[in-house]
Amino acid sequence: MIGAVRSTILVWAVWLCAGPTAGANIVRTFRDDVHTVEKFNHLVVDKNTGRVYIGAVNRLYQLSPDLELVITEFTGPHDDSPDCSVIDCPSSAVKKPTDNVNKALVIDYTTTRLIVCGSLFQGICAVRNLHNISDVAQVVKEAVVANNATASTVAFIAPGPPNPPVSQVMYVGVTYTGNSPYRSEVPAVSSRSLDKEKMFMIARTAVTTGTRMFVNSLARERYPINYVYGFSSEGFSYFLTTQMKYSTQPQSPFISKLVRVCQDDENYYSYTEIPLECIDSEGKKYNLVQAGYVGKPGSDLASNLGITAQDDVLFAVFSESEQSEGEGSSKPSRFSALCVYSLKAIRRKFMQNIKTCFTGSGDRGLDFISPSHNCVQTVSFPYTISA
Ligand SMILES: *[C@@H]1O[C@H](CO)[C@@H](O)[C@H](O)[C@H]1NC(C)=O
Ligand SMILES: *[C@@H]1O[C@H](CO)[C@@H](O)[C@H](O)[C@H]1NC(C)=O
Repeated sequence: MIGAVRSTILVWAVWLCAGPTAGANIVRTFRDDVHTVEKFNHLVVDKNTGRVYIGAVNRLYQLSPDLELVITEFTGPHDDSPDCSVIDCPSSAVKKPTDNVNKALVIDYTTTRLIVCGSLFQGICAVRNLHNISDVAQVVKEAVVANNATASTVAFIAPGPPNPPVSQVMYVGVTYTGNSPYRSEVPAVSSRSLDKEKMFMIARTAVTTGTRMFVNSLARERYPINYVYGFSSEGFSYFLTTQMKYSTQPQSPFISKLVRVCQDDENYYSYTEIPLECIDSEGKKYNLVQAGYVGKPGSDLASNLGITAQDDVLFAVFSESEQSEGEGSSKPSRFSALCVYSLKAIRRKFMQNIKTCFTGSGDRGLDFISPSHNCVQTVSFPYTISA
């Protein structure tokens, strides 16, 4: 079994209490003319203009830097059926009005565009103008994100093929939904092109490889991977996930894992996973990661972690599984904790596991991934790792 990376320090264990929040300060409210209350899914702020974009169910909002509502776009509901492909519908498909749940909202600063992906039509994406979201530059018929209301999707832009770090791609992690014959073509993790001519296509493809990773067809229905957060750090792209520990046991505990690919790897040979643990001083395990953020530490935290204030740090909030089912539940309880990891320690742990792997023992944490990569003894690494 491969080793897990542990948090160096546990900062807080937070017990969430129900009840009114004292001193809540609402800056501004806005009302949708169509009186149905729609759930907000994603929010991004343009770091250059301060404009705010909100992806919601059936709506996309553009707000000014002082939070005045400027534009409301209607993205759904539309007639749809999972039996339709992105291109067309068989005559047997029964279409019905379906909500469009926003699954990804990403600013592409290179082209100053907003990328918006929704659950409708197999999970396609559109490119919109950041100055005016009503202006749609491109709608791409390519299944990119999850195509139902609840399955997870994480998307972020970072360096990738053909020429990193100059060229940027969109990294996407998607939970498999077995609701349509077309979903087996959507990779669990992929790097997608942001070039106008091949927008959202897999950045690099070859006959059996490319910048994509599929989950084994036997495992993907019973052992779904939930994508929670994604980020880039020092030449690697990472995803935080929750998944079952074993693919061979029906009652497997749920754990959190960190998935990593090397940004200059055109074939995802470098795809590796390691468990991520958050355990408090009493040995209580917070097994389900709920949210993450990569930033820089303050000077106290940096010295505590033995790193500099310029090094990356991962802040992650975890919950314990619901008490009744122990770690066997993917549902979070009300007990949660914040764990902090230095990316330096995370890189070291990946390196250790990969070294163990290339001496022929353990695995790359790829129980569910097809084709499965068992560790084989090699004399040299097939890809480079910057330590
Ligand atoms: C955005 O563009 C639409 C259509 O091109 C136009 O009708 C609308 O007035 C524009 N909105 C703003 C706030 O510029
Ligand atoms: C979406 O798909 C996932 C994975 O198959 C499934 O667990 C979930 O229940 C589905 N959600 C809805 C609303 O159908």
